Amino acid sequence: MRKIDIFDTTLRDGEQTAGVNLNAHEKLEIARQLERLGVDVIEAGFPAASPGDLAAVKQIAEEIKNSTVTGLARSTQKDIDAAWEALKDSAEPRLHVFLATSPIHMTYKLKKTPDEVIETAVQSVKYAKQKFPVVQWSAEDACRSDLPFLAKIIEQVIEAGASIINLPDTVGYRSPAEYGQLFQYVREHVPNIHRAKLSAHCHDDLGMAVANSMAAIENGADQIECAINGLGERAGNASLEEIGVALAIRSSFYQAESRLELKEISRTSSLVSRLTGISVPPNKAVVGKNAFAHESGIHQDGVLKEKSTYEIITPELVGVSSNSLVLGKHSGRHAFRSHIQKLGFEPGEEQLNILFKEFKDLADRKKELTEEDIFALLLEHKIQP
Ligand code: KIV
Ligand code: ZN
Repeated sequence: MRKIDIFDTTLRDGEQTAGVNLNAHEKLEIARQLERLGVDVIEAGFPAASPGDLAAVKQIAEEIKNSTVTGLARSTQKDIDAAWEALKDSAEPRLHVFLATSPIHMTYKLKKTPDEVIETAVQSVKYAKQKFPVVQWSAEDACRSDLPFLAKIIEQVIEAGASIINLPDTVGYRSPAEYGQLFQYVREHVPNIHRAKLSAHCHDDLGMAVANSMAAIENGADQIECAINGLGERAGNASLEEIGVALAIRSSFYQAESRLELKEISRTSSLVSRLTGISVPPNKAVVGKNAFAHESGIHQDGVLKEKSTYEIITPELVGVSSNSLVLGKHSGRHAFRSHIQKLGFEPGEEQLNILFKEFKDLADRKKELTEEDIFALLLEHKIQP
């Protein structure tokens, strides 16, 4: 089994979610939970962005010991110095420095020629290496870059000292097959690539961030960058929880695994949702309220007989106490009876038939029935516990 490093960027790209602003105390609380979750790398922030972010990254770097702490920097001495100030007391100071490599970004944003971009990237990595033992270099907008140019710049930044090369799909543009091919291309066309780890960083603009990350694993990525609840710039980053669970339950397919403590997933998701103010959609995979809820009678009957009929993930795996059989108009007699029994009632067959008919009439009028509705029905029919 290959070991995949999980690089969490909730506190950096995740904090770039519109409307999110975490203070230092909140960031530290999330970092402690990420450490309990077992992430390999915590990207704690962007120290040059503000004095507050520098202080928050510094505090996290000083306290967190079981996950590597990193911070983002543009390719300038000022940014790298700010990151050093924040990270110098961490167990293994690690910098994440980036520069855009696509023609669109080089022409319109950086206003630099490709040769100038290579020169800037190499100088920034050399400068960073004077301080940081580990330097990760990201080719921003790698997915829209010219491939021979990308191979050339990667070779040179590795020569300059970068030991992790990240290929971000910055604008969430690629399909899984294309993103996988990018990893293959880099592995085949960068002669010194064996000296570096390859990392994936996917955005969800076309809803493919997790699929793209998994394709990267299939094509040799050693590290996956992701965020809790899929937070991040625009439509967000790949969801950590989905990648972690996919790796765990499909490990034989991917021939890879992570060291995540998956039972911490549910509480990590709730904590991040509470502190960022961004709620989790009910139908969100793994952490949504409905991820383990069965509504239709056919499904409820199935899971009452054998959970694996409709559950590929056990709720306990991610720290959820149990599944739930939601009572609604699609619910069947089995689930209805099971609910009543859990409430401590055991009506006879005749009574159950009458109650079930009334329950169905009520369910036609109400979307979801609560325990109180069922109690009211039982009381109405004078059924004793
Ligand atoms: O999406 C992106 O390209 C980034 C880089 C800074 C790594 O977030
Ligand atoms: Zn990003």
